[in-house]
Amino acid sequence: MNIDHVAVLREARRVNDPDILNALYVACSNGADQITIHLREDRRHIQDIDVKNIMMHSTLPVNLECSINKDILNIVANTAPHRATLVPEKREEVTTEGGLDVFGSEDEVRYAIELLHDSIIPVSLFVDPSIEAMDKSRELGAEMVELHTGTFANLFAMLHSSLPHSNHSVKEFELPRYELSDRLEASLEAIKISAKHADSIGLEVAAGHGLNFHNVHEMMKIKEIVELNIGQSIIARSVFSGLADAVKEMKRLTTR
Ligand code: PXP
Repeated sequence: MNIDHVAVLREARRVNDPDILNALYVACSNGADQITIHLREDRRHIQDIDVKNIMMHSTLPVNLECSINKDILNIVANTAPHRATLVPEKREEVTTEGGLDVFGSEDEVRYAIELLHDSIIPVSLFVDPSIEAMDKSRELGAEMVELHTGTFANLFAMLHSSLPHSNHSVKEFELPRYELSDRLEASLEAIKISAKHADSIGLEVAAGHGLNFHNVHEMMKIKEIVELNIGQSIIARSVFSGLADAVKEMKRLTTR
């Protein structure tokens, strides 16, 4: 479970509420298998102190996502998480858009992997699904790849949810339904083929980004995928499934 989104809410008010350590505790005690956090260069959600506290208190392995920026890499190397996942990062993006450019940034990615390996930290690369990216990730020395499911998730949501009728409709996917359907199938096929190929060349396979209560079943059918990193949809659901209790409790506290 990715718990960054709890820190997003906290940072919106710059208070310690919701407390990320509460989220850590709830995730650890309700079935999560791993905690994922992303220490972004601009520290927009997870802060350095969160990394320290989460490492200290997590009863589950911690997957620390980071860019290939050298300052960040040094922090990760000194933190010694269970695994590091290298992701691309742009200041202006709302969330991680697209996978790591393992071709264009080959030297930097290789350097990052070596630096993390020197600290005995296994490395996963967050990449767009393609056979070439799997081969390159293996060649660069990664142990694992995380397949970026953003395109799949966007297409799925444009076809099967109210997203096209909202402000956040994905412009590039404002297409006739039959075309969306073909593209969705193609995006799923790319994930399946990449997962199979990655597994066959000895990479562990994870997937993540935009996975939710409606689309995750498609990932569960791909047996080579052994890990899913999911954040936003769980926190979004908790606003509703947890809100009833919060409202009742506040009513109780404010009733004479
Ligand atoms: N995996 C990676 C590498 C990510 O950057 C993110 C986004 O924080 C996720 C998984 C989780 O995506 P989401 O929050 O959409 O579930």
